[in-house]
Amino acid sequence: MRIFCPATVANVNCGFDSLGFALEGIGDEMVFRKTTDKGVTITKITGDDLPMEAHNNVAGVAGNAMLEDIQADFGVAIEIYKKIRCGSGIGSSSASAAGAVYGINQLLDEPLSNLELTRYAMKGEALASGNEHADNVAPCIYGGTTLVTGYSPLKIIALPPMETVYVGILHPHITIKTKEAREILPKTVPLADAIKQSQHLAGFVASLYEWDKELFTESIQDVLVEPHRKQLIPHFDEIRTISKENQCIAFGISGSGPSMFCLAFAKAHIDSYLAKSVALYQENGLQVDSYSSRISGTGCHII
Ligand code: HSE
Repeated sequence: MRIFCPATVANVNCGFDSLGFALEGIGDEMVFRKTTDKGVTITKITGDDLPMEAHNNVAGVAGNAMLEDIQADFGVAIEIYKKIRCGSGIGSSSASAAGAVYGINQLLDEPLSNLELTRYAMKGEALASGNEHADNVAPCIYGGTTLVTGYSPLKIIALPPMETVYVGILHPHITIKTKEAREILPKTVPLADAIKQSQHLAGFVASLYEWDKELFTESIQDVLVEPHRKQLIPHFDEIRTISKENQCIAFGISGSGPSMFCLAFAKAHIDSYLAKSVALYQENGLQVDSYSSRISGTGCHII
């Protein structure tokens, strides 16, 4: 069985560790074979230099947590075809963790719910980032845009689709480790900033239910995390200016970076933003990848 696991954008500025969406056409592939030997065996990885031992691999950790818990009488051999670069900020580790549990679920007689799958995928995410957050693995499994409303117990809401939104992803070739990008964040925040951020997240959610474009645009802002992380990303403020000059409606760090996401109501705005941003990085001698995408309504799926 071969599956596709989409790349994802986490945080979306106003929902740190809570909001995320799945991307269309950007993602990894994984192949599953049922084995009589129990547990996960990783038999092949292409596209990146990652550990083959299951206990050191996010797919192995997530898959084994699930297989052990449900006392499966079979195991799986997994091949991983990485297309999402590790440390890029568009959910590379999450795609492998979510893909592993999604794939195993397809082999069960009584499949688990998306919520239960997310819980197991978070175990893999913890290996990569040192923290069990679900803002990448949830949209990777559910598709669309998801909101984590609680971690203990885990609660996830699938938000209404934003069908007329186009997404640009810019990935400058520097590596930012999620663990390190989390360590630089302050442990406490000023009350005024907490209020502002709550208003942004509430405004974002309300805008989706009402499809209020103006409220949507005003709400995708980050006063809590971006001020601390943006210095990790070269030319961040210049790229933001380019996004505004090209009529894009939102711009920010994708997950823990270095990728940046940009949203627009027209594909032409995204394409000209990407072309100008790529040119800026190239003029400064930095390699960069760019993708023009949309929000995918589908998470992991069999291909
Ligand atoms: N919410 C996470 C963070 C996403 O920003 O640290 C990265 O995996």
